Order: sequence, then C-alpha cells, then structure tokens
Amino acid sequence: MNAGITGVGKYVPENIVTNHDLEKIVDTNDEWIRTRTGIEERRIASDDIDTSDMAYYASEQAIRDAGISPTDIDLILIATVTPDKPFPTVACMLQERLGATKAAAMDISAACAGFMYGVITAKQFIDTGVYKHVLVVGAEKLSKITDWTDRNTCVLFGDGAGAAIIGNVSEERGIKSFELGADGGGGKYLQQEEKFIQMNGREVFKFAVRQMPESSLNVVKQAGLNKEDVDYLIPHQANIRIMEAARNKLDIPVEKMNTSVKKYGNTSSASIAIALAEAVQNGDVKDDDFIVLVGFGGGLTWGAVGLRWGK
Ligand code: UT7
Repeated sequence: MNAGITGVGKYVPENIVTNHDLEKIVDTNDEWIRTRTGIEERRIASDDIDTSDMAYYASEQAIRDAGISPTDIDLILIATVTPDKPFPTVACMLQERLGATKAAAMDISAACAGFMYGVITAKQFIDTGVYKHVLVVGAEKLSKITDWTDRNTCVLFGDGAGAAIIGNVSEERGIKSFELGADGGGGKYLQQEEKFIQMNGREVFKFAVRQMPESSLNVVKQAGLNKEDVDYLIPHQANIRIMEAARNKLDIPVEKMNTSVKKYGNTSSASIAIALAEAVQNGDVKDDDFIVLVGFGGGLTWGAVGLRWGK
C-alpha cells in the first residue's frame, strides 16, 4: 500500500467578477490584467458565505468521491490564511458540521503552499499506518483581506475551496515524491498588514519563477523519472507567466498544464486543490498518469508532490 489521493472535490462561489468589473473600481484594464497575469475573471463569495462554508461544500464532494463516510475520517487538515475567526479553527467547525466525530482537527497556515503542506502532512500519518483517511482542504475567502483600492493586489485574488481525501492506494500508485521548504527571510514580500494583503509583486515573482520550476523537477527526479514521464502539471494558479516557467522547465505542452487561473484568479491555499478536482472531473488526469503538484506562497513557503494517479 501507498499513500495517495482517493477522492477530490471543489467549490467556487457563483458570483463572477470580470476584469471589466474591476476597471470600474480601480485604475486598471482588462488588457493589463490578462497579459501580466492570465486572469480573466474570479469568483467572489457573498457576505453570508465564509471560508468554512466553502470548505464544507468541497469536502462533502471529496468524501462522496472517495466512497467513505464522515465518521471514517481520522484527521481534518484545513489550509487557510482566511479562517472564519482566529479560533476555533475551520477544521473544528468542519468536524462538527460534517459529523466527522472520530476526527482530530487543525488548520495549517502556509499561504499559497498550504495545500501542499497539508497533503504531505497527511501522507505521513497514512504511511505510518496510524490513520486511514485524512481530509485535506484548501479554502480561502481572500476577498475579506483584499484592499479593493489597491490595484497591485485586488486584481489577482479570488475565493474558493478544494478538498482531497488522502488514504491508502495500491503500491504502484499514489505519492511517489515530495518537497517542502520555507524561507522566512522573504516573509516581508507578501504579508497581511493590519487588515489587508500587502505584496512586493516583483520580489515574489522572482522567487516564484526560480522555486516552482526547481521544485517541479526535483520531485520528478526523486520519483526516479524524467521530465518526459510527466503527464500533467498542476502549479499554484497565481500568474500564468510564473506557471509557464514551471512548464518550460518540464518541457511539456501547454495542454498538459492546468490553467484555471483564467477563471478563478489566485485562490491561495485553495488553488491547487480546486485545479486538481477540476482536472480529475473533466478527464485531464486519468488513472496511471504521473502528475506534479507544485506551489509557492507567502512565508515564503513552497511545496511539491509527484503522484501516480489512481487508487
Ligand atoms: O500566491 C502568491 C501571490 N503573489 C504572486 O504570485 C505575485 C507575483 N508577482 C506577479 O504576479 C507580478 O509581479 C504582478 C502581476 C503582481 C505584477 O506584474 P509585473 O509585470 O511585475 O508588473 P510591475 O509590478 O512591474 O508593474 C508594471 C506597471 C507599474 O507601472 P509603472 O511603475 O511601470 O508605471 C504598475 O504600477 O504596471 C502597473 N500596475 C498596473 N497597471 C494596471 C500594477 N498593477 C496594475 C493594474 N493595472 N492592476
């Protein structure tokens, strides 16, 4: 047996905010946003939907997809930087709402690399045989910490949630390699100050175009494979130009990379989880495909996983 992903789910709010909508509130334009970031629209949650609600909807789908019941879950890990409140955690809120009565629960804070930190933490509990099913969710309501007067940041972010069940799969499939890292020295480049996200875009960009390609290649090599063995790439959906750097490093065609950033913008911890669920649901990822998940974010943090898809 090996630790792998046995179910996925996602939720994005209904409300679509286009680049043209943003032109009306800040000094920006559709052309700038598309060419600099690849984003065309994003989803913004209404006032009555918070992070835990989105996490709940995505989780319900993942639990169904895995064919388990909430009482089978041993541990809930929620990656988020926008919890409903500082405590109790979103994970505890979800434990109650799902009726996951046997599950331990905690939140993980690693910004946009949060889902990677969650999956890799879950894997350890599965590998040791201590737990059988771990629910890992990336969920963010970034709109509540976005300064809607700051054009440098407000055009980038969106709300949403993605979920995965980590459990036992066959020996040939599942998580083959991983990498996690952090550089606290770069924390100042992307942080929440007072109420809002503040970012030095250039510095984060420089870090990301170095780290994402490097980590992607590292997990391929660590799995004993070559770049031509990669069937699908799911990078953190921050900016198409950064994602392209990872794609070029692995030398794979554009159709083998998820580009949901177009529709959802940057949803931080949720982005890789949403992209994975969508890629599985629409058939971009099939059984026995070798896929690379890779993310970077505030902290600074990064993480990557090499995974043979299927149970
Ligand atoms: O999950 C991690 C989250 N963070 C990231 O992924 C951010 C990484 N960084 C980036 O994606 C890019 O740096 C940005 C998309 C944020 C910016 O792109 P850039 O190509 O680095 O642009 P820039 O910051 O160098 O700005 C170029 C110009 C500036 O004008 P001047 O100084 O040249 O006159 C900006 O003021 O674009 C201006 N600008 C805008 N113009 C229209 C900045 N934001 C906007 C905007 N609309 N929304």
